[in-house]
Amino acid sequence: MSQGSTPKPAIARKSSGLSGTVRIPGDKSISHRALMLGGLASGETRITGLLEGEDVLNTGKAMQAMGAVIRKDGGEWIVNGTGNGALLASESPLDFGNSGTGARLSMGLAGVYDFDTVLVGDASLSRRPMGRVLDPLRRMGVQVKAVEGDRLPVMLRGPETPAPIHYTLPVASAQVKSAVLLAGLNIPGVTTVIEPAITRDHTEKMLVGFGAELSIETDKDGTRTIRLQGRGRLTGQVIEVPGDPSSAAFPLIAALLVPGSDITISNVLMNPTRTGLILTLQEMGADIQILNLRLAGGEDVADLRVRHCELTGVSVPAERAPAMIDEYPVLAVAAAFAKGKSIMNGLQELRVKESDRLSAVADGLKLNGAECEEGQDWLSVTGRPDGKGLGNAAGERVVTHLDHRIAMSFLVMGLASEHPVGIDDSNMIATSFPQFMDLMKSLGARIEQA
Ligand code: S3P
Repeated sequence: MSQGSTPKPAIARKSSGLSGTVRIPGDKSISHRALMLGGLASGETRITGLLEGEDVLNTGKAMQAMGAVIRKDGGEWIVNGTGNGALLASESPLDFGNSGTGARLSMGLAGVYDFDTVLVGDASLSRRPMGRVLDPLRRMGVQVKAVEGDRLPVMLRGPETPAPIHYTLPVASAQVKSAVLLAGLNIPGVTTVIEPAITRDHTEKMLVGFGAELSIETDKDGTRTIRLQGRGRLTGQVIEVPGDPSSAAFPLIAALLVPGSDITISNVLMNPTRTGLILTLQEMGADIQILNLRLAGGEDVADLRVRHCELTGVSVPAERAPAMIDEYPVLAVAAAFAKGKSIMNGLQELRVKESDRLSAVADGLKLNGAECEEGQDWLSVTGRPDGKGLGNAAGERVVTHLDHRIAMSFLVMGLASEHPVGIDDSNMIATSFPQFMDLMKSLGARIEQA
């Protein structure tokens, strides 16, 4: 949808005490991987809790186009895979819409096959750098044809026998790591990825779950060496997808900011590679209780009870960025209501997300009266705990640049600002969190779509 569809502005207004218990939809990263590995494995994979957002559904369609059989039965998604090494050439281009994860991981998965694969995306995705994945694929022997630089659309064609590589990640990116490992599934021999700093580890965990021969060695500086034996057998699994912490971040911060709030968010993934935001908010003095911590489907999961409280400015170290990379826009909103100044470092990757998030956040904050400064790879925000003067009384809207997280972050801002906060388009929210509007309203948030 979204690209080319009529923009749907939305507005959020000062709300009083959010309350209730909500369940967050499935984790986006795990959902993509569940469909990909399920679609590749031999036999049946049954998935519950799958995120039914557009990004993930596009990945499902791509897997179907390459031979997987996918159907929904009640609340369960049932995937019959092709068997490792047996994907089929898609007859039409694979369209990943807005999703970098779908596109980059699929480049690895399909790009090493000895057939043509064409990948396309929307305007946002077609601006994002793909060289970070195409470079290691080229080293494996994959031919790449792109119209413009290393951007979508691209056509990939693998060699008859792709070569295993030993690859040190030049950027801290789980997408790049995953693309190389997924390519390694169809390469004879051992593919090795060296990861200087840990990023989300769902691909490694799930590959092991599906029966891949994968080992991880971590040295004393934290550098990880991941080795995958290619062309092994993968077998269908039962997967329970936990709630997405990157989506939970929106009601969570809304509850911290709106006076009188007391909410519970159930079933949130607590994988340590994803909990940087919770740690940062706790450092800011947030009242977040982690309840009922348990193991579900091989991942840590908990319920979060969140109550309004005053936050204090924080300095977020650059090393924490991989564990909260998608949460900076909404953290910046929280910082706009904290006492004192917050500074966030190591944000260079924010410039190549669904939008240039560093600029989009700084522009949106300024438009809504918050004091902030944008550096090449950092952002500082000076907060106003009572929200006085925040928002835009003239009704000017934040430009969301086809970016779901910019849209949701600024709607959260409006719930605690003196004046309303408007956004130019809420369509993209459906890529990752289709229930956002209803879920927020069920807690008492005053949000309307135009
Ligand atoms: C993701 C990895 C991150 C993240 C994205 C999802 C994944 O991207 O921003 O939303 O599922 O692997 P990078 O790996 O490019 O940092």
